[in-house]
Amino acid sequence: MTFQLGHYKETESREKKNQSQHRLQKKSKSEMAMKRVATSAIGALASSPGSSALIRPLHASPGSKKIVGVFYKANEYASMNPNFVGCVEGALGIRDWLTSQGHEYIVTDDKEGPHSELEKHIPDLHVLISTPFHPAYVTAERIKKAKNLQLLLTAGIGSDHIDLNAAAAAGLTVAEVTGSNVVSVAEDELMRILILVRNFLPGYHQAVTGDWNVAGIAYRAYDLEGKTVGTVGAGRIGKLLLQRLKPFNCNLLYHDRLKMDPELENQIGAKFEEDLDKMLPKCDIIVINMPLTDKTRGMFDKEKISKLKKGVLIVNNARGAIMDTQAVADACSSGHIAGYSGDVWYPQPAPKDHPWRYMPNHAMTPHISGTTIDAQLRYAAGVKDMLERYFKGEEFPQQHYIVKEGKLASQYQ
Ligand SMILES: NC(=O)c1ccc[n+]([C@@H]2O[C@H](COP(=O)([O-])OP(=O)(O)OC[C@H]3O[C@@H](n4cnc5c(N)ncnc54)[C@H](O)[C@@H]3O)[C@@H](O)[C@H]2O)c1
Repeated sequence: MTFQLGHYKETESREKKNQSQHRLQKKSKSEMAMKRVATSAIGALASSPGSSALIRPLHASPGSKKIVGVFYKANEYASMNPNFVGCVEGALGIRDWLTSQGHEYIVTDDKEGPHSELEKHIPDLHVLISTPFHPAYVTAERIKKAKNLQLLLTAGIGSDHIDLNAAAAAGLTVAEVTGSNVVSVAEDELMRILILVRNFLPGYHQAVTGDWNVAGIAYRAYDLEGKTVGTVGAGRIGKLLLQRLKPFNCNLLYHDRLKMDPELENQIGAKFEEDLDKMLPKCDIIVINMPLTDKTRGMFDKEKISKLKKGVLIVNNARGAIMDTQAVADACSSGHIAGYSGDVWYPQPAPKDHPWRYMPNHAMTPHISGTTIDAQLRYAAGVKDMLERYFKGEEFPQQHYIVKEGKLASQYQ
């Protein structure tokens, strides 16, 4: 609770800042509009001379827009819950609203390759909505082909499926629904920690296969109490996880680019570790909670994994590509990693021969933690709000921007 207050305080001061920025913008709207075009033009000139990015406005011009949404397909599950809006069939619940305003809204799960439905619409779409659960990989090549594209929205959190540098160079806006599913993910991580620590899955398998072998589970089942848990990244999800772990009486550590304010740190009860390599060998359990960026891609390679405590447990709901896939599989096989769980893979959907499907002591699932029904309703509402603002030419909440006016959000730089 107290942490939440701190979080709201932070959001509130950001909101105040946004409001005053907004007032300023109103005052000199035409100046700002010119500045925006100029900034995007400079970015475009610097990166791709002669590109059509020069004439791309950052907000909607009047008239009908072509909006494409790429989501996972629900098939027989689509009609089982009226709030199941995150799938192709649910289409974020915004189809009627968009079409009633004269916009074209195409929704598909067919996203890969030159003959996919998505590829067909790339040349003339204005807005692309995609989701990390079924990522539409927006490459520099696709951006180059998308001459009308202005806005890339992520229904969820994590826009690493987009080539952000290419988007910035082309003067596009990239935004996500920051905060929309952070509770969903933090809860899921806590569950995965317990599943690994208690060696839950072999017991479950015994139950369904008609076996009964207590020893086969008990020889590597532990209490969570007293263990050292370190989160790599302590932003919104990391903090919520630490807050949830506090009553378990663990030793809590965190590494991040930024140290929390001391009051919040004290409430959460976690100790800051500036040097990641010094934190890693102390941890019985490591949870990854930072975005996939140029700096974090492949960060957990063979060398980094060799620094971990032997028998460490890892939970990664952040992004699969933060890990070196084969290094994780090898360390699980050797027993250096005693258990690995998460819902994120690279690529997604994970191919049938992905090594993580076959490594020992894993508790992997498809990408699911941030797409609970509660989360879907929140990120669908966030996408609708941003589209509404885009049509009206209004700013988005500042924390939603990942690429704005040719610049990446600070943690992606
Ligand atoms: N599995 C899912 O369903 C799901 C859902 C939501 C988010 N996510 C993933 O979780 C990530 C974190 O989400 P969040 O809402 O907590 O984001 P956030 O922006 O609130 O927090 C990210 C934290 O990581 C830190 N960080 C960034 N780069 C770092 C680096 N190089 N070294 C150390 N720390 C670094 C930042 O300072 C920040 O505190 C997202 O970027 C996304 O990839 C997954």
